[in-house]
Formats: sequence, structure tokens, C-alpha cells
Amino acid sequence: MRALLCREWGGLEKLYLGELAPPTPGPGQVVIDVVATAANYADAIMVAGNYQTRPPLPFAPGLETAGTVAACGDGVTHFRAGQRVMALLHHGGMAEQALAEASDVWPVPDAMSFADAAAFPVAYFSSDVALRWQGRLERGETLLVLGAAGGVGLTAVEIGRAMGARVIAGASSAEKLAAARAHGADETINYREADLKARVLELTDGRGADVCFDPIGGDLFDGALSSLGWGGRYVHVGFVGGVPRIPANRLLVKNRAALGSALRHYRWHQRDKLETSVQTLFAWYAEGRLRPLVSHRLPLERGADALRLLTERRAHGRVLVDVAP
Ligand SMILES: NC(=O)c1ccc[n+]([C@@H]2O[C@H](COP(=O)([O-])OP(=O)(O)OC[C@H]3O[C@@H](n4cnc5c(N)ncnc54)[C@H](OP(=O)(O)O)[C@@H]3O)[C@@H](O)[C@H]2O)c1
Repeated sequence: MRALLCREWGGLEKLYLGELAPPTPGPGQVVIDVVATAANYADAIMVAGNYQTRPPLPFAPGLETAGTVAACGDGVTHFRAGQRVMALLHHGGMAEQALAEASDVWPVPDAMSFADAAAFPVAYFSSDVALRWQGRLERGETLLVLGAAGGVGLTAVEIGRAMGARVIAGASSAEKLAAARAHGADETINYREADLKARVLELTDGRGADVCFDPIGGDLFDGALSSLGWGGRYVHVGFVGGVPRIPANRLLVKNRAALGSALRHYRWHQRDKLETSVQTLFAWYAEGRLRPLVSHRLPLERGADALRLLTERRAHGRVLVDVAP
């Protein structure tokens, strides 16, 4: 089968379109005929060899996918061939067929297109578990989202809004902030131009935000932490800007908490909470409260360019790699 291949760890320029043996499903697994797969920043980290897991070489990147069921392994009785599905993957979504654990596969709701389904799992699931279970975001609270037009960031804006929070979106350009506003942000801050802490305090009459959703870290962390009010919860989702050190004194003085949020924790250890998140997200999607934004669609042979749009900070929402016409 055709696949975007990584055969040595390194930069995205090493990816190439090649041939890979199609997967066969083991017990509890599902093989999916891929229609489209969203690019994730984490794919670039994996290709560089710096992700939490390192697949055996060669492999195809792609941490999620949408398509139809091609075959099911022993013990998988709740999916049938041809059924429309979306899935979280260990890797391999940027190929004509992908292998998934059946527990990480969900039927695509009837009203959802393949494009929306491809854009859905990683970003929406990760943001929901981060805000609902880690951040314990409540109706009426103020949520600060950094990277608010990025893959997970924009979904956090929509989910925060759907949860009844007041959402302050932070991003690096007017165009990105317009996307965040169109997807539910109440206020926006261009953190390239404005002082993040000062602006959040101004927008909250000095009280500060209740929850910060941060997929970036790096230089933004210090101001974002200071912008949290009493009892504020800082939720670390990713570190595209660098891994910050957390000064414990600044947690204590305002009764703040700093929390990591990893989707895989909910996949492996708290399935009931993940299912609650997923079903809530599907219901919100059906009500039109979630609208996946896809800024670019590229064919499989341009998968490396799809990832480059993320590493070069040029995407809004999701970037899709179209595998089947
Ligand atoms: N913990 C989890 O469960 C989970 C799940 C999914 C993703 N993640 C992580 O979340 C992070 C974001 O992933 P994503 O797929 O949403 O990425 P993305 O779509 O590329 O969004 C990242 C955003 O970060 C901002 N950014 C700031 N500095 C950047 C830099 N040096 N390079 C690139 N972007 C930069 C950009 O917004 P501005 O230009 O507006 O600053 C960009 O929109 C990654 O670290 C990923 O591994 C974690």
C-alpha cells in the first residue's frame, strides 16, 4: 500500500511516499481503509525520534484517522466491514490502511463528513479531557487558551465556550485571533504585541483567569501563570515552545495548581471519563456547537508539507492529508 514513510529519525525532509506492507488485524484490532488523516504537531516530534514512543522503522506517521472498516481481528464484534469510523492510532494514519485498537475506534456520526471526522479525535478529545477532568472548568469561569488557533487550541476555545466559560484566546496574529473569535472566543490577546499578564488582568478586572490551557509553554508560560487568579488551574497540554520550569512559590501564593494532561492517560486508565467526553463532544457537534476548522488539505504525497504547515506556524485549526479520493 502507499504510505508516507519515515525510515530514519530526523527532519520532515526525510519523509517520502513509498510502499509498506498493509496491516493485518490481530485480536482486538481493526484495519481501516483511510480516507483522510489530520496532521498533528506530535507527528513531527515522532519523526524526529523525540516522541514518547518510537515505532520500529520504517513507519508512517499519523496519530488518528477517518475511513471505513476494512477488517476486524478476533473478538471485535461491534464493527462491520465498510462502517464509517474515526480512530486514535499509535501511528500510521498517513497510509492507505491503518491499524487501530478496537477500543480506540468510534463510529462516525451520520451527519459528520469524513473531513470533520478526520479533524476530530486527537484535537477535540484531548482538549475536552484537559478542560473537563484536569482543569475542572466550570460554567461562568474564565478560560485562557494559548495557541488558540492551533489544532488543540481552537478546539479548546469551542469546548470552553460550550462548557459555559468566558474564553480569552491568545495567539500570535490578528488572522489567528479572528479564527478564534469566529469559533467562540469572547476576548482576544495578540501575545506577540501585548503583555499577556497585564491584558488578562485588565480583561478580568484584576481577578485573573481560572484556567489556562497551554499547548505551548516556553516564553509564554511565565506571563500566563501570573495571569491566573486565586485557585487557578494551569493545564499543560504540550510544549511546542519549550518545557518551562514551574516555580512552586507562585502556585502556593494564590492556591494555584499546575496539571499535566495527556489523552493517553484517559485511553489507558480512565476509559469511562474518555467516553463521557467523546459522547458529549458528539452531542455538541450534532447541535452545531463544534465546527472543525480545516485550513489546508493536501494529498498523501505532500504529507511532509502538511506537517511543515504546523512546525512553521502557518495553519489555523487542522491540516488534513487526503489519502483516498
Ligand atoms: N497532551 C495531549 O493530550 C495532547 C494532545 C494533542 C496535542 N498535544 C500537544 O499540543 C501541542 C500542539 O499540538 P497541535 O497539533 O495542536 O499543534 P498546532 O496545530 O501546530 O498548534 C500549535 C500552536 O502553537 C503556537 N506556537 C507557539 N510557538 C510555536 C512554535 N515554536 N512552533 C509551532 N507553533 C508554535 C502556534 O500558535 P501561535 O502562532 O498563535 O502562537 C500554533 O498554532 C503539541 O506539543 C502536541 O504534542 C498534546
